[in-house]
Amino acid sequence: MTTLVHSVAAAVLNSRKYQAIAPELVEAIAAAELSKGRSHKEAVKATKNQLHRSAAVYQSGRMEYDRWLAELQMAWPDATARQPLLRRLMTAHASTSERLPFLDDFYTRIFALLPPVHSVLDIACGLNPLAHPWMPLAADAFYLAVDIFSDQITFLNDFFRLTGVAGRAETRNVLTDCPADPVDLALILKTIPCLEQMEKDAGAKLLGQVQARHLVVSFPSRSLGGRQKGMESTYAARFAELTEGWDATTTRLDFANELVFVVGRGIAVSSQCH
Ligand SMILES: C[S@@+](CC[C@H](N)C(=O)[O-])C[C@H]1O[C@@H](n2cnc3c(N)ncnc32)[C@H](O)[C@@H]1O
Repeated sequence: MTTLVHSVAAAVLNSRKYQAIAPELVEAIAAAELSKGRSHKEAVKATKNQLHRSAAVYQSGRMEYDRWLAELQMAWPDATARQPLLRRLMTAHASTSERLPFLDDFYTRIFALLPPVHSVLDIACGLNPLAHPWMPLAADAFYLAVDIFSDQITFLNDFFRLTGVAGRAETRNVLTDCPADPVDLALILKTIPCLEQMEKDAGAKLLGQVQARHLVVSFPSRSLGGRQKGMESTYAARFAELTEGWDATTTRLDFANELVFVVGRGIAVSSQCH
């Protein structure tokens, strides 16, 4: 890694909006921008733009993790207060928030297609792990969640601990460091388009690495602004391209703003993550 790459990455990590992002992802984007012949200043701007488009744009304002944790601690003893609070917290991540109007239906319909699930890998999870109580998992299920914001990951680990979920969250850039633990189910929700903005073949690479008996792969079918713009057919075609030639059974589910594919793969998965 050159001094210039370090210096561009340090300038990006110095701003509050990007300070919690996994440094190796910031460095990789900075290196790619510098390799296009950009100046230091241009590379800082381009790196921030990329990180905004594929990650920060989903965070609606200040992420108040300490306050949210305190609220969870207060609310959790009262079982009736849990889901309303979790719903409110999930509004802080645009991608997770968009699912709230049909959250019950979402996991009911998906899990109806699956055998009992004992382990989950939630890739580029956003705040989706807060939807854990909506997922009809096996009683002994383990939940592994990964994303690039270290402060969000700390909060999710606190959430797991506080609520007694057997789970762990890890700060990871899945472009280079995706968990390869064998799992029953991998959730890859609305993530492939984000990753493919950074690396053209990221979707194929990711699907090739994940060791899961079942995959739930989803795509937004409306933009963050609510427009449709032919997204559904574009992403259905992209999914077909990515899974061409697979020995798999696939069921398509259409929700108001999300296109979901539930995939059962004909692969042997030997053990479970923990
Ligand atoms: C569209 S959101 C989806 C969030 C969540 N899966 C959901 O649907 O509720 C994309 C997520 O990918 C994360 N992300 C972007 N680039 C990533 C990377 N290289 N490695 C891991 N996560 C990444 C972002 O931080 C963001 O939370």
